[in-house]
Amino acid sequence: MALTLSLSGKVAIVTGGGRGIGKAITERLVEAGAHVAIASRKREALEATASEFAHLSGRVLPVECNVGRADDLARLVDTVERELGPVDALVNNSATNIGQGPSLEVDAAMLDKMVDVNVKSALRLVHRVLPGMIARGGGSILNIVSISGLKPQAGGLLYSFTKAGLIMLTRSWAREFGPKGVRVNAIAPGLIQTDFSEYYWKHPERVAELVGEQPITRLGQPRDIGFAAAWLLSEEAGFVTGQVLAIDGGATA
Ligand SMILES: NC(=O)c1ccc[n+]([C@@H]2O[C@H](COP(=O)([O-])OP(=O)(O)OC[C@H]3O[C@@H](n4cnc5c(N)ncnc54)[C@H](OP(=O)(O)O)[C@@H]3O)[C@@H](O)[C@H]2O)c1
Repeated sequence: MALTLSLSGKVAIVTGGGRGIGKAITERLVEAGAHVAIASRKREALEATASEFAHLSGRVLPVECNVGRADDLARLVDTVERELGPVDALVNNSATNIGQGPSLEVDAAMLDKMVDVNVKSALRLVHRVLPGMIARGGGSILNIVSISGLKPQAGGLLYSFTKAGLIMLTRSWAREFGPKGVRVNAIAPGLIQTDFSEYYWKHPERVAELVGEQPITRLGQPRDIGFAAAWLLSEEAGFVTGQVLAIDGGATA
């Protein structure tokens, strides 16, 4: 018997679904028959991903959206409900990473932007979709955090701060909404080879330093996250909530 996840016909939103980790998550979901709205700023990348996955069983709907803007997020949910139906699954994956460097060079405007894009976006989307999930008897939310939210990243004050914040939102929402049928989990990737992390993997000495310490001494790939994400969103993970799954080659072991 083929291994299948019960995602067929489900409606999902994946922010940042046009490339990198979000794209790998989208691929697994549409392969399993879910209809997925992918949302980010650059329409071209979104449309290219939608075309690439057009042969898979679920539909991919590209929606232009800056997750740092409340009105864009409201429009995103309205569009998804109109085009695909009520939202069963939400993946808060989009993130930015400004203000890297010495922490005394970080200012309040940088903090505002990081919180808007990496944290408030998730809160705003949850507020929009969660009441419907509860009314329909269930749903699933997945936040893409980082192992830097578990242990401070050198020179990454704001990144670690926002990811740690999203971890606590995950666990708090899981406690509150579990009894109402909504599961909330997080995946904390280690170093994954995407545009986001090229500062590290484009330099052999930085890669060696980072992955050399891992039990699994290779760079992670987006597909390493995609399968786990699809499982966490599916009913097959129905007894799993409030968890932060590190997918990091064992870096945090
Ligand atoms: N790669 C790693 O090593 C690593 C490790 C730990 C955690 N993560 C996390 O994994 C997630 C995905 O990152 P990735 O590695 O896949 O990076 P990526 O390939 O650079 O993708 C980042 C995505 O976020 C979107 N995005 C950025 N700012 C946005 C905004 N204001 N509004 C809407 N979308 C926005 C981008 O789309 P547009 O440019 O089109 O807006 C893009 O789709 C992030 O949460 C990141 O923190 C990554």
